[in-house]
Amino acid sequence: MTVGQSQVMMDDGKVPESRRWCFSRRHCLFFLLVLTAVLFFYFTDINQMATDWNPVKLWIPFKDHRQTFGSLNNGTLSDLSKFITHPSMTVFLQTENITATNMANRTAMTTIASVVTQQLVQTIPPSPVPYKSPGLYLVEYPYPYSFVINEPMTCEQQKPFLVLMVPVAPHNRAHRHIIRNTWGGESLVLGKVVKLFFLLGLQTGEGVQQLQEQLLQESKEHHDLLQSDFLDCYKNLTIKTMVMLEWLDSHCSIASYAMKIDSDTFLNVPKLVGMLSSAPKTNYMTGLVAVNAAVLRDPQSKWFVPVDIYSPQMYPHYALGLGYVLSLDLAKKLVLASKHVKAIYIEDVYLGLCMQHLGIPPVVPPNWEYFQVFPVKYSRCAYSRLIATTTDKYTDRVKDWKDFKNPGPYC
Ligand SMILES: *[C@@H]1O[C@H](CO)[C@@H](O)[C@H](O)[C@H]1NC(C)=O
Ligand SMILES: *[C@@H]1O[C@H](CO)[C@@H](O)[C@H](O)[C@H]1NC(C)=O
Ligand SMILES: *[C@@H]1O[C@H](CO)[C@@H](O)[C@H](O)[C@H]1NC(C)=O
Repeated sequence: MTVGQSQVMMDDGKVPESRRWCFSRRHCLFFLLVLTAVLFFYFTDINQMATDWNPVKLWIPFKDHRQTFGSLNNGTLSDLSKFITHPSMTVFLQTENITATNMANRTAMTTIASVVTQQLVQTIPPSPVPYKSPGLYLVEYPYPYSFVINEPMTCEQQKPFLVLMVPVAPHNRAHRHIIRNTWGGESLVLGKVVKLFFLLGLQTGEGVQQLQEQLLQESKEHHDLLQSDFLDCYKNLTIKTMVMLEWLDSHCSIASYAMKIDSDTFLNVPKLVGMLSSAPKTNYMTGLVAVNAAVLRDPQSKWFVPVDIYSPQMYPHYALGLGYVLSLDLAKKLVLASKHVKAIYIEDVYLGLCMQHLGIPPVVPPNWEYFQVFPVKYSRCAYSRLIATTTDKYTDRVKDWKDFKNPGPYC
């Protein structure tokens, strides 16, 4: 949505205006201090705060980080900005490279900012903010979730061209088994390394401990599980997707492309790799692109979104969640964009909103047949023409896959 956008524009719009008031460097500095203070007060109005800018989450990690800020000397600020969701801070914190030469200047500016904010923190009584649920239609994101099961080095070691990311419920071992024994088992396709990972959250309820032990065992065996510490449920899919993008950015940016693909699908991996070998290398997202999709306003609908959460009648173009492909550079960009866009629970729509924020529309694939949201009945010929299709629960995917892999003509 445009909440963040308009605020950024306001920041950008106000700063140049201040030049008119600069008669000397001292005036300038003073003006900057006042401006920062004004902006800070403006954006700290509790009533104006979106739920995702919960001050508890803002300040606790930020304070911790600020103490270590002095030791930051080479690297990017993106790690920091992960914790800083406060819009007035974006005036100072950009995500560009910090080089040795501009670091000193940066530090000076940040020191000014932190002096001002420290003073302001003292004037605002530190009232503990009670936990506030984001409500039915938003999810708790951004939030510093962490991984319980991880594969931090796998990409570094295997240098995949393409990573397949499959969201699946922790207990759904059967789906994982099928995928590993069908399209997920393809590790070298047309000379390119392909890597598979499953994305899991936490389960609650009976037998959790036992399940967790089984997962650890499964992870030891296959090295393809990524489990983060949010509650795994349908309403939390947006969290799963965003955690996936964070992981791709921090542990797999060496890959060229990632595909998020649902666990009940058939994936024609060679066709996908073929399409990607002539695809754009950056700012690229494709899949089954929904164009001018209406926002569902019927409270009975599975994907109901009320006007106060999202007011336009249509969503921006977005790639349907069954399977979408993105160039790896987008992982970081989408994570950054998510700090300005309210995290609604419909994961594919949410990515569409983040893409809109970035000004990068998802593109339609070279052939409209490539991504199928309604199950296509298996035949060698039909499946050789598509990249991904959902399957119904009666399909024997292992049998179909074996048939599909047989040599010989498809049609
Ligand atoms: C960031 O720094 C690295 C190494 O210092 C350099 O290779 C890279 O091109 C820089 N990126 C940008 C966006 O300046
Ligand atoms: C840093 O500040 C110095 C003066 O204090 C200025 O000459 C230099 O251009 C600045 N560097 C950057 C990268 O802004
Ligand atoms: C989504 O995950 C968060 C973090 O674990 C949790 O607090 C919340 O209750 C979950 N949402 C639902 C609907 O279960």
